[in-house]
Amino acid sequence: MKASQVLLTSTAVIAAALTGCSTFSNTKPALTTEQIMEEGFKGKTSLAARLSENTASDADKQRMVYLTQQLALNKPSKGDLGSWQEKTAKMNRAALALADKLPDSIELWRAASDCKACHSIHKPD
Ligand code: HEC
Repeated sequence: MKASQVLLTSTAVIAAALTGCSTFSNTKPALTTEQIMEEGFKGKTSLAARLSENTASDADKQRMVYLTQQLALNKPSKGDLGSWQEKTAKMNRAALALADKLPDSIELWRAASDCKACHSIHKPD
């Protein structure tokens, strides 16, 4: 599947999540935020870090498209849901831009995946 098709699909899912559309309102994430952090973000050589350093493979990029989609389906245990949806949608768009090799996608990703900016608001102590 091309990343542009994934974009359409994920936009629909996020739009549905935002509007609480009945078709999607029962969409449960397959992965928890904790699992996503462990798989894609934890550590110096994580998937997220490789994306920021431009050493990620195409498969890495596709995996992050999926992980950020899953992240967007989760609800934050702390902080405002609107803020969470905005942040996670931005991450998903940046991952899609990386997969599509769009110009400036690395900068987009770095800004969208700012650990502290999200943890300070949404990560429980
Ligand atoms: C969009 C928000 C968001 C971003 C961006 C984010 N995180 Fe997280 N992260 C969370 C939340 C929320 C938790 C708490 C999950 C829980 O335990 O419920 C968390 C938890 C973690 C954990 C602990 C996981 C565990 O085993 O309990 C690690 C490690 C982590 N994040 C690493 C990172 C790193 C490194 C980055 C940046 C490269 C990052 N995160 C970016 C939201 C985010």
